[in-house]
Parts: sequence; structure tokens; C-alpha cells
Amino acid sequence: MRTQVAIIGGGPSGLLLAQLLQRRGIDSIVLERKTKDYVLARIRAGVLEQGLAGLLEEAGCADRLHAEGFSHDGTLIAYGDEMFRIDFKEHTGTPVIVYGQTEVTRDLYEAREKAGGPIVFNVEDVVIHGADTNTPHVTYTVDGTTQRIDCDFIAGCDGFHGVSRKTIPADLRREYEKVYPFGWLGILSETPPVSHELIYSNTPRGFALASMRNENLCRYYIQCSVDDNIKDWSDDAFWDEFKKRLPADMAAKLVTGPSIEKSIAPLRSFVTEPMRWGRLFLCGDAAHIVPPTGAKGLNTAASDVHYLYNGLREFYETGSADGIDAYSANALSRVWKAERFSWWFSSLMHRYPDQSDFDQRMQIAELEFLRSNKAAQKAMAENYVGLPY
Ligand code: FAD
Ligand code: DHB
Repeated sequence: MRTQVAIIGGGPSGLLLAQLLQRRGIDSIVLERKTKDYVLARIRAGVLEQGLAGLLEEAGCADRLHAEGFSHDGTLIAYGDEMFRIDFKEHTGTPVIVYGQTEVTRDLYEAREKAGGPIVFNVEDVVIHGADTNTPHVTYTVDGTTQRIDCDFIAGCDGFHGVSRKTIPADLRREYEKVYPFGWLGILSETPPVSHELIYSNTPRGFALASMRNENLCRYYIQCSVDDNIKDWSDDAFWDEFKKRLPADMAAKLVTGPSIEKSIAPLRSFVTEPMRWGRLFLCGDAAHIVPPTGAKGLNTAASDVHYLYNGLREFYETGSADGIDAYSANALSRVWKAERFSWWFSSLMHRYPDQSDFDQRMQIAELEFLRSNKAAQKAMAENYVGLPY
């Protein structure tokens, strides 16, 4: 087979890139290791920046987002029984949109299928060849048969555990990593949200987050130990603990119910540099991971797609390689700012195992500063709604 861009990974980055390219008449083939149902069953991000919404519009996939997404003009931050609001509208003029990654991915699959763009599921043994030449190709196995795709470019959109990043020789890449000493236990439940706006809560028992997907679907998280086993967390145990980590007036209003999904995610900051090797471009979680606090993972994947899509478009439309040559530097410049924000917000909101009384008072002092200082609120709001591309 031959295509212009071989895309490894059928998560949100790969699908969004494929759909944007398709609209410009640039062919791609998407290779996905899992089934579509498997990809759609993963419950992940829930908060979208306007930049991602704009890309979905450009890809022709934003109708349901506009019809069903919830515009949030601010967020609540709690510490103990204290709570204050960061007003995104006041400080930036921009809201965020609450709309699940599952729905984004579903809309992208639907658009891809409608456009007749190829996606190969259940691929195994994906290998990238000749990425440092002008004639790269990809091989993979499906149903026991080995296939080959010749292409102009390869987009490595295969997440943190994919093959793309590891294809770049170790002596040509530099990796930066911080692993946090806790995880997030998340549940999805068909109950009305405790608050219309998200609540990020710092408590002596650890962090909690009240998020939502719609009027009858909640996404709630609590900080847990990385060693916790999901089987040891009954729904009742989750609700008991979650309640204790909300301000008392919110806890009193909480509606509980059976979980329809429950999972534990570790927290990590990770960046690899550069995000390009020859004709291979890394995109999204393949190149970087943020801790989830502040909802930057999917949104940062989207900004990579923006730079890569525009670079490839420029190449095919004008013959100029300027955009693709600048890809890694442009993407990384924004990635590092999202890394900083996610690291800062995680550090502010979680209880660390070795945290001293002094460290805890520093968190409270910083929260009180944020509560009272408009400049600090503006900086937080600008980062939360998403820095410009
Ligand atoms: P992925 O979604 O990981 O997709 C990669 C795809 O590649 C997968 O489908 C995988 O099966 C496939 N693949 C892997 N290896 C291969 C291979 N060898 N061959 C072919 N295919 C392969 N982000 C936010 O912005 N906001 C949030 O609120 C948020 N909450 C999160 C909550 C949780 C619990 C988790 C785990 C993450 C959260 N994130 C959030 C992060 C966000 O989900 C990711 O940043 C996002 O999924 C990245 O998209 P991606 O397409 O780059 O990678
Ligand atoms: C969600 C996840 C986050 O990490 C976050 O900061 C906000 C919302 C969510 O899954 O809804």
C-alpha cells in the first residue's frame, strides 16, 4: 500500500490529524493496535480548550460538541471548608468546554468512516523503517499477514507505550521524567453533578476532583496510593472518602450511586526531545505526559496536531518544509508550558507522603494568595483555558 502520511495510533491525536489532512485532500492510513470498542471504552479527559474545539470544527466534527458540550466559565478551588472561584470569562474572555474524550473520539471515528478514510484495527508488530530517509515505510501484521505501507511521512500518535518514540535512536533523544508518589482513583456514575462547575479540592486526606460529563453523568476522582488495588475500593468506600474531601456544604448535597467505571491512573510528567526524527513526527502522549490536574493531556496532544497538520499542509500545498522543520520546536515550546502548569497545579493540590507541616502551610498560603490576588487568578485562568497556539 502507499499513502502520503502513515499514522500510527487511532486515539484522539491520530484520528484528528487524519481527519484534518483528509479535508485538505492529503491521504493517510491509520493503524490502531486495539479495536474501536476498546478505544471508545477508555474513560479519560473531560475538559476541552477552545483550541481543540476549533480544530474539531476545522475537521468538520464539532456538531455534537456544540450541541451537547457544556461551556464552563470558571472553576472552584477548595481547601478544607474554604472555597473560591477562578473566573475564566472575567480573566480571559474564554470558557472551557466539558465534553468527554470518548465522545470526541466517537465523533472522529464517525467522520473518518463517513469520509471512507482507512483505519486498520488490531494491528500487531508495527515497525517503522527508514524514518531518517525520504522514503520511509511501515510494516505491521494483521490477521497473521504482514503488510507494508510506503509513505512520505509517519505520524507517531501511538501514546506513551507505543513504538514511535522508541524508534528514535536513544542517543538522539533526551527524556525528562517525574513520577508522582500517588495515583488518581476515578469513577463514573450516573448521578447529577454535585456542582455545576468543577471542584478541585486540597484536603488533609488528599486531593479530590468533582468533574462531570453531563447533567446525569459524574466523573469524580480522589488521590490514592499508587499501590492501591482497584478491587479493594468498593463504591461505598469511594463515596465515603470522596465526601470527606469535599467542603461540608458540597458533601451534604452529594448524590451517590453505583459506579459504571472505576480505574486507577498513575501520575507522571514526561517529555521527550526532539519530537521529530527525519520523516517521523511524534504527536500527543507518544512524546509527553502530564499529570491530569488541570486537564492538559488531550489539549496538549491537540496543539501538537495543530502544528503538525499545518506543517504538512504547507509542505503539500506550497512545497515548503518550513512548517515541518519548525514542528518540534513549536510543539515543545507549548508542551513545556503545559508541563509547568500541570506540575504546579498538582504540587499545589496533592498531599505528598514526605510533606512537612511547613510544606502544607506553603500550599495553604499559595491557595490564599490565589484566592485574593487578581494577577495570580489571571495567570491560572490563562493556563487553564489554554495558552495560544
Ligand atoms: P492515546 O489516547 O494514548 O492514543 C494512542 C493510541 O495508539 C491508542 O489507541 C493505542 O491503542 C494506540 N497504539 C499504541 N501503540 C500502538 C502500536 N504499536 N501500534 C498501533 N497503535 C498503537 N487529558 C486532558 O486534556 N484532560 C483530562 O481531563 C484528562 N483526563 C485524563 C484522565 C485519565 C484517567 C487519563 C489516563 C488521561 C487523562 N488525560 C486527560 C490525558 C488524555 O487522555 C491523553 O493525553 C490523550 O488520550 C492523548 O491522546 P493520544 O491520541 O496522543 O494518545
Ligand atoms: C477531568 C480530568 C481532569 O484531570 C481535570 O483536571 C478535569 C476534569 C475529567 O475527567 O473530567
